[in-house]
Amino acid sequence: DMGGHDTYMHKEIVEQVEAVDRVLRGRIDDRFATVRLGGLNLEPGEARRVRRIKILGCGTSYHAGQIGAQLIEELARIPADAEPASEFRYRDPVVDPDTLYVAVSQSGETYDVLAAVQELKRKGARVLGVVNVVGSAIAREADGGVYVHAGPEVCVVSTKCFTNTVVAFALLALHLGRIRDLSVSDGRRIIEGLRRLPGQIDEILKAESEIKALAKDFATARSMLFIGRVRGYPVAREASLKLKEVSYIHAEAYPASELKHGPLALVEPSMPTVAIVPDDELLEKNRAALEEIKARSGRILAVAHQEQEKADHTIVVPKNEHELDPILMGIPLQLFAYHTALALGRDIDKPRNLAKSVTVE
Ligand code: F6R
Repeated sequence: DMGGHDTYMHKEIVEQVEAVDRVLRGRIDDRFATVRLGGLNLEPGEARRVRRIKILGCGTSYHAGQIGAQLIEELARIPADAEPASEFRYRDPVVDPDTLYVAVSQSGETYDVLAAVQELKRKGARVLGVVNVVGSAIAREADGGVYVHAGPEVCVVSTKCFTNTVVAFALLALHLGRIRDLSVSDGRRIIEGLRRLPGQIDEILKAESEIKALAKDFATARSMLFIGRVRGYPVAREASLKLKEVSYIHAEAYPASELKHGPLALVEPSMPTVAIVPDDELLEKNRAALEEIKARSGRILAVAHQEQEKADHTIVVPKNEHELDPILMGIPLQLFAYHTALALGRDIDKPRNLAKSVTVE
């Protein structure tokens, strides 16, 4: 049942307001400025002994894991990184007893992720799951974890599960942070930020008609560049993947800092750039990148917290805490991908060549 929407993708984008509310529900502990994660199965003493965190997933879940790794580093100060599960499996990784492994999967059935989990378990590693589908193969195989509670996602292209997965990582990062060295006041600040998310998502969705007009305009491009820096980079990667999958327009994501090391050669009027420009400590650096692009007559669509002078269009999104900004900045670009695909008459819920869950190697 599409509940009055033309596609599941649209329904699932709009549902994010409730979905984010659901992943937070019952988990916030105001007294200790932390969150309770019932199924984590990780004692405080164990959480304190973790030396590294390695996050494994595929596609959109891998991108959510990249933001998750940044959240864990920022809030819990544990070195963390994300890697595609398939790469991890095939490169004969060194499995370290002080590393906590986290498998991310919406379906909980993706074969490459499941195989990585099984290999890790065989070698005695501790593996947590960040999974949407309750009781799925990866959820059963993991030692514990965090359910994403996004509800069923029907569209092949993931939207609400991405957002909820990132929020689930914010909860995990806050939980680990408050067991380690995150202060009560920082814990409170993040909790207040998390509570603002549903209302802010609702606000972003109100920009849909503006985004629709922009998407129609950009739909004639043959290729697009997506750029971001640090917190904005995985947002750019996910937005680029979304556009490719659903509109079939070629898109490539780059860290903004890498532009001058090659991709700047591509910039000209027919190659638009979508730039993630959060109002954080890197704002001036990001503005300089926009200037470089403008100097080469590139068109720029910015997603930012304030109007960007060098951009041709800015989608202004509400500001949250710096650490949580990536959760919101991807949402207008889900709508952008959707409306680009709609303008091009694509089969939005079932893009060619793709399947909802990839249970083969
Ligand atoms: C993108 C998309 C895929 C999946 C990937 C992993 O929109 O849907 O990239 O994210 O196949 O799937 P899960 O999360 O089920 O393991």
